[in-house]
Amino acid sequence: MADVLVIGATGTTGSLVAAFLRDRGVPVRPASRTHGLPGHVRFEWADPETHAPALSGVSAVYLVAPIGVAEPAPLVAPFLNEATRQGVRRVVLLSSSAVSESATGLGALHGLVRASAPEWTILRPSWFMQNFAGDSLALRTRDGEILSATGQGRVAFIDAGDIASVAVHALADEVPHNTEHLLTGPEALSYTEVADAITRHTGRPLRHTAVTTDELARHFAVHGLPPDFATTLAALDADISGGAEDRVTATVERITGRPARTFRDFCAREIR
Ligand SMILES: NC(=O)c1ccc[n+]([C@@H]2O[C@H](COP(=O)([O-])OP(=O)(O)OC[C@H]3O[C@@H](n4cnc5c(N)ncnc54)[C@H](OP(=O)(O)O)[C@@H]3O)[C@@H](O)[C@H]2O)c1
Repeated sequence: MADVLVIGATGTTGSLVAAFLRDRGVPVRPASRTHGLPGHVRFEWADPETHAPALSGVSAVYLVAPIGVAEPAPLVAPFLNEATRQGVRRVVLLSSSAVSESATGLGALHGLVRASAPEWTILRPSWFMQNFAGDSLALRTRDGEILSATGQGRVAFIDAGDIASVAVHALADEVPHNTEHLLTGPEALSYTEVADAITRHTGRPLRHTAVTTDELARHFAVHGLPPDFATTLAALDADISGGAEDRVTATVERITGRPARTFRDFCAREIR
C-alpha cells in the first residue's frame, strides 16, 4: 500500500491519526511545517512548492486545513489539483460539526474535496475535549475561570482519539466511506458542567464565567488568534447557546465498534 499523507501530524488529531495508522500497519508520511522531525516531510499550506513533494507516491490524505485562516479554499484548491494530478485516490477532510457545506470558510472545502477526490470522507466532529487540556486550555481560561458565551447551551464534546479512530477507518477501510460523519461524544454538557467535572477531578476550583461574544473574541485575539478568526470562533458560542451542538450521534461506535469516550474518562487520562 502507498503512503498516507497526514497533514497536521504534530497536532491534536493528526498525531493520533499517524500513530493509529502505524498500529494498523499502514505506511504513514507525517507532514508539518516543523523542521527536523524524524520521518516528517515539510509541508506549508502557504508554500505550494512543498505540496508536490509531500504528495509524491501517496494514495490517501488526512487533510487538516490551514489553521486560523478564515478563507482556506484558495490555499487548499491548488493542493487538491496537485493531488488529483498525482493520482491520489482518497481524501479525508477534518471539518467541524459547526460547519456545513458552504461557499465560504471551512465549509467551502467540503465541495472541493468531493469534487476532486474519487474517494472521500468529511469528518464533522463536535468540540474537542482536548480544548480543556495542555496549552489549549489557556485559550478559554482566565484566572480559574472558563470563559464562554454559550450560556446554558450544551456541547457533546468528543475525544480526539475517537476522531482519529474514525479517520483511520475512513483512510484505510477497503470500501471508501464517501459520506460526511457527524461525530460527537456520548453526552452533551454545558460549560458549567465541564468546569464542575474538571474541578471534581483536580480538586482545584474552576468555574464557568459567561462573557459576550465580543469579549470572548478579544480574549481569543489576545491569546494569538488572528482577529477575523477570533470573531468567527467566538460567534460559534452564540450558536451553542441556541442549542446548535446539543445532540449526540452514535457514529463513533458505528464506525469503530466501541462507544465514544466520556468526559470523565478524558479527565482521568489527560488532566493533571
Ligand atoms: N478544537 C476543536 O474543538 C475543534 C472542533 C471541531 C473541528 N476542529 C477543527 O480541527 C482543526 C484543527 O485540528 P487539530 O486540532 O488536529 O490540529 P492542531 O492541534 O490545531 O494542530 C494544527 C496542525 O496543523 C499544522 N499546521 C498549522 N498551520 C499550518 C500551515 N500553515 N501549513 C502546514 N501545517 C500547518 C500544525 O503543525 P506545525 O505547526 O508543526 O506545522 C499542526 O500539526 C481545525 O480545522 C478546526 O476547525 C476543531
